[in-house]
Amino acid sequence: MKVIVCKDSDEMSRAAAQIFAQRIRKKPNIVLGLATGGTPVKMYKELIRMCKEENLDFSKVITYNLDEYLGLSGDHDQSYRYFMNENLFNHININKANTHVLNGKAKDPAAECKAYEEAIKKAGGIDIQLLGIGGNGHIAFNEPGSPKNSRTRIVDLTEKTIQDNARFFASVNDVPKQALSMGNGTILEAKEIVLIADKASKADAIAKSIEGPATEQVPASLLQSHKNVTFVVDKDAASKLKKKYEAPKAAKAASKGCCCC
Ligand code: GLP
Repeated sequence: MKVIVCKDSDEMSRAAAQIFAQRIRKKPNIVLGLATGGTPVKMYKELIRMCKEENLDFSKVITYNLDEYLGLSGDHDQSYRYFMNENLFNHININKANTHVLNGKAKDPAAECKAYEEAIKKAGGIDIQLLGIGGNGHIAFNEPGSPKNSRTRIVDLTEKTIQDNARFFASVNDVPKQALSMGNGTILEAKEIVLIADKASKADAIAKSIEGPATEQVPASLLQSHKNVTFVVDKDAASKLKKKYEAPKAAKAASKGCCCC
């Protein structure tokens, strides 16, 4: 695993965007796995800037998002489809038909999940997967205890996740209690994985994921078994790590993975 510790969330966002931009330039029809949440917003802004100012071309890029709230349609302002349109897709030259987010309103959610898995396979698998992390170590909506080999499915959200995500909704009662989510097994099949985290509220989860034992109780720790994973974190999120990790010399250097453990 590579660990890149950035001085703040701006540097984290630039470093992660550089990694994605480099991969897109190398493979224009790349399959990206994308994430939602507060953490990737500035990284997406940087990718938008690169598209506008540095000719970063998304015209052939294909995307699959990690998850979606069950019961929310794509035009609900708290749905992850809406989030992706607002924070990335509407501002870059991507073909919307190439962007995929699970349908939270699917008549048959189990069939929706199965079809999503098949579509990812048909696209050749995910080349690079972006992840955030929940305060309890969850990735996508794989809550603690989710099996390592789990696939895209309907999941129950924990009380902690509902409370953490309530800040985006009018009230905690409006937060859906279930979601559709890629499984840990689906995520671990991506060829490359980049997990980003900022803020002290993620410090425990980051320390357990990187330096603790690999356990289904901390889903992000399962990434330890993957051959090509980079954690890009800011110093607050890194504050409970015991080992020392170097800072990137410059955001650009981060794309080469300048510091490893
Ligand atoms: C949600 C998403 C996760 C995301 C997490 C952290 O639970 N399903 O994919 O990583 O929130 O979000 P934030 O970046 O807002 O802390």
